Amino acid sequence: MNKILIVEDKKSMADMLSMAFGSEGYEVKCALSIKDGLASLDNENVDAVVTDLKLPDGSGFDILKSAKERVPSLPVVVMTAFGSIETAVRAVKEGAYDFITKPFDPDHLLLIIKRALSERFAAQENLALKKEFSDFLRIPDMAGTSKAWMDVLEKAKKVAQQKTTVLILGESGTGKELVARTVHFTSPRADKPFVPVNCPAIPKDLIENELFGHEKGAFTGATEAKAGRFELANNGTIFLDEIGDMDMNLQSKLLRVLQEGEFERVGGTKSIKVDIRVIAASNKNLEQEVAQGRFREDLFYRLNVFPVNVPPLRGRRDDIIPLTRHFVKLFCNEMRKPIPGIPEEVEALLLEHEWKGNVRELKNAMERAVILCDGNSILPEHFGLAAPHKDGSLIDDDSLFAASGQAVRVAEKARIEDALRTTGGNKSKAAVLLKVSYKTLLNKIKEYGIG
Ligand SMILES: Nc1ncnc2c1ncn2[C@@H]1O[C@H](COP(=O)(O)OP(=O)(O)OP(=O)(O)O)[C@@H](O)[C@H]1O
Ligand SMILES: [Mg+2]
Repeated sequence: MNKILIVEDKKSMADMLSMAFGSEGYEVKCALSIKDGLASLDNENVDAVVTDLKLPDGSGFDILKSAKERVPSLPVVVMTAFGSIETAVRAVKEGAYDFITKPFDPDHLLLIIKRALSERFAAQENLALKKEFSDFLRIPDMAGTSKAWMDVLEKAKKVAQQKTTVLILGESGTGKELVARTVHFTSPRADKPFVPVNCPAIPKDLIENELFGHEKGAFTGATEAKAGRFELANNGTIFLDEIGDMDMNLQSKLLRVLQEGEFERVGGTKSIKVDIRVIAASNKNLEQEVAQGRFREDLFYRLNVFPVNVPPLRGRRDDIIPLTRHFVKLFCNEMRKPIPGIPEEVEALLLEHEWKGNVRELKNAMERAVILCDGNSILPEHFGLAAPHKDGSLIDDDSLFAASGQAVRVAEKARIEDALRTTGGNKSKAAVLLKVSYKTLLNKIKEYGIG
């Protein structure tokens, strides 16, 4: 049932409108003053507002303004006195959905509200659909216009058309996962599964089970058969993230799957054949790992069919400002804050910084900045630009903004460690406690080198 807030000081008028809306199946909340009206906006979760302009304790424009601040899509209809067309125009300019001139036929007002609600519903449906669609595609919004980044995307989209194995290399936080998703979701397999495997995140004794699944009774506790990620990715893409950290023993098994396109579940004898596109990523120099005997040479050559190098952010400084704007907008939308400007001197600071943590460091800096910024512009003290120390400790940089950034890091690290202690190391529960997404928590754990 839709709830309508009526702000009108004349009791007879309020009652009449209440009845008119009530008989059409609306729930009605009447407020006889601005004060009551504002309280109702805060507490009642209304779907539309009808307000008079002249009220004993102020103007209906205050209701209009507050309603729009709270919920920009909330329709507000203003009742104006006969002959005050300028006021009506002002109301619409300030965001009123429509106005109605007194005296009026209640049916006319009902029609306006009905139309407003159905338009709002359609807009919301549209948004939900759009979101569903982009979730479905799951290519995250990207920013960056540098030649180097464009080349990376161009390569990714070209190779996407083939089944070719792709090896994405680059420093931590440069956007390797984003590139992997771009390859999959622009490929003919886009509507098939994209199955990421974060190799170092899975405990060593579980990874085989995770990748290949198991048969019932394969080990104590295996009460049911379970498919592994390679099976789940059948017809789609498997993304082997941080492959450089994979155990040597497992590297051999992986090699076999890649060569033969088949494997057995743990405790099983039947060969399972799969059709899989493989994308691997690493922040390590795999050739060096091979030279030092930590990575199998034959596996390296298997994977290194189509290498894509994602350059560090300091090597494509043209991307810094577009990325900054992108993240500021993203976090403002998420936190429902107005989008602040980025003054030139701040841009200059951002451009000079080394960005050892690459795009992830910039993203985190902008998240902090949006939290701390209350004015029209982002200021240097809203984010810390100092290079993150794994242990979150203070480093030798005397500037104020470095100090604030470090303070945030130390505090965040301590909170995360507390939460993990409280939950006995359970990261999903810790993410709930900390009110962040699981992914954000994992990124922070990585950034601060916790655990
Ligand atoms: N061009 C870009 N546009 C928008 N966001 C980006 C871009 N590049 C990276 N990001 C964001 O930065 C963060 C780090 O990117 P991603 O996880 O893809 O990096 P990575 O290279 O896989 O890092 P790691 O080696 O640490 O796993 C993510 O939140 C990602 O969405
Ligand atoms: Mg990654």
